[in-house]
Amino acid sequence: MTVRIGMIGPGGMGRAHIERIRTVIASGEVVAVSDIDPGNAQRVAEGIGAKVFASSAELIASDAVDAVMICSYGPAHRDDVLAAIRAGKPVFCEKPLAPTASECLEILQAEQEAGRRLVTVGFMRRFDPSYRQLKAIVDSGEIGEPLIMHSRHRNPTVPERYTWDMAINDTGIHDIDTMRWLLGEEIASVRVDKPKRTRHRFPHLQDPLVLILSSASGVWIDVEIFVNNQHAYDIQCEVVSESGTVRLSDQQLVERTGAIGRSHLLTMDHNERFGAAFVTEVQEWISAVARGEHTGSTSWDGYAAACVCDAAVRALTDDGPIAVDLIEQPAFYS
Ligand code: NAI
Repeated sequence: MTVRIGMIGPGGMGRAHIERIRTVIASGEVVAVSDIDPGNAQRVAEGIGAKVFASSAELIASDAVDAVMICSYGPAHRDDVLAAIRAGKPVFCEKPLAPTASECLEILQAEQEAGRRLVTVGFMRRFDPSYRQLKAIVDSGEIGEPLIMHSRHRNPTVPERYTWDMAINDTGIHDIDTMRWLLGEEIASVRVDKPKRTRHRFPHLQDPLVLILSSASGVWIDVEIFVNNQHAYDIQCEVVSESGTVRLSDQQLVERTGAIGRSHLLTMDHNERFGAAFVTEVQEWISAVARGEHTGSTSWDGYAAACVCDAAVRALTDDGPIAVDLIEQPAFYS
């Protein structure tokens, strides 16, 4: 079966997903496109022979669409995810599921009323081979219980429109989801530390930021978010456990040796670093849709990450630690 996909918001991420589906992913085809910018929808659709819809509501309702991918910007996600749930269609939504926990809660409620899991959130690190290996070691218990975790999220630059809450809601949300996923438990509280600022910042931006998280069982986690490091997209993770540590090693595939020594090439963006993870993520989603099953992270994961982000945004201005306010996990998601 070929899953007929409707793509909402084919900007940078959406176009990259379309290209993967077109070239390396099996059993899926993007047949419909909509965008708030009709010119963009037209251009993208022409390139792949898809139909343009004037609105996301019409695209979701169309009988020609089996499943929906939402790659528009965060504030537009909630309405389209809810429409897909009400139409009974599987939906892959790029992170964040929605910008606030209360909006995510509406999605949780609608999905439970629909009676089956329909929503997958684009937390692609869960599909990265090195993160999966790291998790397998943690889960095996061979190095004991995790006690401390370090996560580093560094970008070369961000545009001037990037605001400091985006460092949490758009960037740090990946690290927050990854810590929850690696530990298999929720984050209980968060504090934000503000180190000396880089001179390469915009005046409105506190960069870097460090989130200090505490998990439900007391694991201490620091998440460094540094979005103007001037040189590379550099993702690091280390888990310090009772009888050993495990960390991502350098992820570069080649090592160069010459007169000035030995060096690695650096990755410069998320597509380069997580290219394989994106392919696996989208392939697993399409294959699960074709089988009538659900895969990947759930609305609960989107909601739980948003709760931590809400607390962290508060902690930007209030003295921490701020408690993370989560509802009890419904059995539907356990
Ligand atoms: P972008 O700005 O390049 O593209 C967004 C597209 O959505 C544009 O074509 C815009 O016209 C369209 N759009 C905006 N509002 C809309 C609406 N109400 N209805 C329909 N279309 C609308 O942004 P980008 O970088 O592609 O990000 C898209 C999503 O992907 C965001 O949620 C972002 O957080 C996420 N993302 C995820 C990454 C990951 O590593 N998983 C990396 C980068 C972005």
